[in-house]
Amino acid sequence: MHTVETDVLIVGSGPAGASAALALSTYGVRNMVVTRYARLADTPRAHITNQRTMEVLRDLGVEQDVIAKATPQQLMGDTTFCTSLAGEELGRVRSWGNDPLVQAAHELASPTRMCDMPQHLMEPVLVDAAIARGTDFRYSTVYKSFVQDEHGVTVTVEDRLRGDEYTIRARYLIGADGGRSQVAEDAGLPMGGQMGVAGSINIVFDADLSKYTAHRPSTLYWVLAPGATVGGIGAGLVRCVRPWNEWLIVWGYDVTAGAPDLTEEYALSVVRQLVGDDEIPVTIKSSSAWTVNEMYAETYANGRVFCAGDAVHRHPPSNGLGSNTSVQDSYNLAWKLKLVLDGVASPTLLDTYTAERAPVGRQIVTRANQSIAETAPIFEALDGLSPQTPEQLWANIAARKDATEAAAKQRAALREAIAFKVYEFNAHGVDLNQRYTSSAVVPDGTPDPGFPRDPELHHQPSSRPGAKLPHAWLTSGTRTLSTLDTVGKGRFTLLTGIGGEAWLRAAEAQPLDIATVVVGPGQEYEDPYGDWVAVSGISDAGALLVRPDGYVAFRYADAAEDADRLLTDALRRILGHG
Ligand code: FDA
Repeated sequence: MHTVETDVLIVGSGPAGASAALALSTYGVRNMVVTRYARLADTPRAHITNQRTMEVLRDLGVEQDVIAKATPQQLMGDTTFCTSLAGEELGRVRSWGNDPLVQAAHELASPTRMCDMPQHLMEPVLVDAAIARGTDFRYSTVYKSFVQDEHGVTVTVEDRLRGDEYTIRARYLIGADGGRSQVAEDAGLPMGGQMGVAGSINIVFDADLSKYTAHRPSTLYWVLAPGATVGGIGAGLVRCVRPWNEWLIVWGYDVTAGAPDLTEEYALSVVRQLVGDDEIPVTIKSSSAWTVNEMYAETYANGRVFCAGDAVHRHPPSNGLGSNTSVQDSYNLAWKLKLVLDGVASPTLLDTYTAERAPVGRQIVTRANQSIAETAPIFEALDGLSPQTPEQLWANIAARKDATEAAAKQRAALREAIAFKVYEFNAHGVDLNQRYTSSAVVPDGTPDPGFPRDPELHHQPSSRPGAKLPHAWLTSGTRTLSTLDTVGKGRFTLLTGIGGEAWLRAAEAQPLDIATVVVGPGQEYEDPYGDWVAVSGISDAGALLVRPDGYVAFRYADAAEDADRLLTDALRRILGHG
């Protein structure tokens, strides 16, 4: 059988596979993508793109391409609860960083902004850049099986154009083949949780809904209507794909009864119910059924085979964590593969991929499913969880307008239940507070301060090893740039300040290419606002060693006479050499 060779073979071109290819090509690692279809995603799917993902895309040089195509943050944020778009409004949540206080927190946390980038627009940006940087990309090519040995993985694929099979020999295999991952199954990755918890339908359609949406711009309009608690993701959802004429409805079905027949007539009836205005012309583009899952892998790798994205965490779209977590998995893995393939790091560095990302996967699967459950109190406040008839539900909703003590209680309960949804729509900590514990992080002996504020709602920066480098605005000549802009690009970076010469000498003496950054008056980088000194966690003469993915690997608070030994020991440990 014909065999082709590469260093890293990636199965799948979704957010996980495309970003793995982009990162590897950016780092100069030979890689190949095989993907089942003759196209990329043809429906909007995942869309919320959080600040951490935008930081990753900024480092990989495609942030501006994404901003150019995405719906900006200010049009994402008035999450609305209503009886239909044309019907009564029950309340709103300022979302995705659009609450003034949360907006300030977003500005303080990162040089990037959230945006809404539908998956059918995101994938071409990632794939085009990956191919331009060297990825060998093969459409209509299906993964069939793999065998691995001490030196590599041999993968059998089917070429759907020619109808035959051939093998690809790679040093490493990444299974980014989504929620029904064959690679994860063949690798025997142990999974916890459950698939098929509830049934959902996506209906993609065109309609000019500006009349009902432009005055309360949002990515999400939630509809509480008869049938809205059957299956699905907590309520009916009208999601904006492009303001204000491309849309996607999510509507539930009883998973035990199976998906309904997805005829155009059925799709149109759901659109009519949730929009609530039969006069508006609607063009149905597609309908598909899917299930809400609550599943995560305990281990993300078996030997030379690694899985990323939905292959290892399967959960509903709540909190918008699907493609974000997938991109971040791949970003965590790519630099480790690069250093191992270059012979700079021991293969044991790759063990830290599971150690660092599996806890994140478990956490986001739990969070996304919890967010569905947290919609129920909104229905409860309206006594609408199981009304006997639609008329009863409408009567319960109308009752909130009465001048009675019961109605006042109902109004308060409704407000409280809607406000609680910040855990789904403004969970800044879920997006940014990920901390890693692994052998690629050297503890500095300081006690873990934990999270003084709610860790799901509030981002809390830290320079403690295992945390992401805090963002602070620096200047360099006439340029203003983030601390995050001084790191990454596939390299380790050592940050120090005035008096940190011993650290600089130590960095330069390493066999590994380490970028150096000195912050202080008269240095290459200055800290004019004092932002960096407030978050750096080190004195001027101390040092932070930051990994290529922007995470702090090693911290030393002060000057050290034996900086060379300290840094050499730290790197030996991080790179798996002892
Ligand atoms: P993803 O599923 O995106 O990609 C898998 C890739 O592997 C695809 O390119 C596929 O063709 C390929 N592949 C699979 N098997 C293969 C094989 N044997 N050989 C070769 N290639 C193979 N999320 C959200 O936040 N909001 C939403 O509204 C939606 N809606 C939605 C709708 C539909 C229909 C789907 C399928 C998914 C969603 N999602 C979503 C989930 C979201 O799309 C998901 O979390 C991310 O796409 C995960 O990215 P991955 O790259 O891990 O998998």
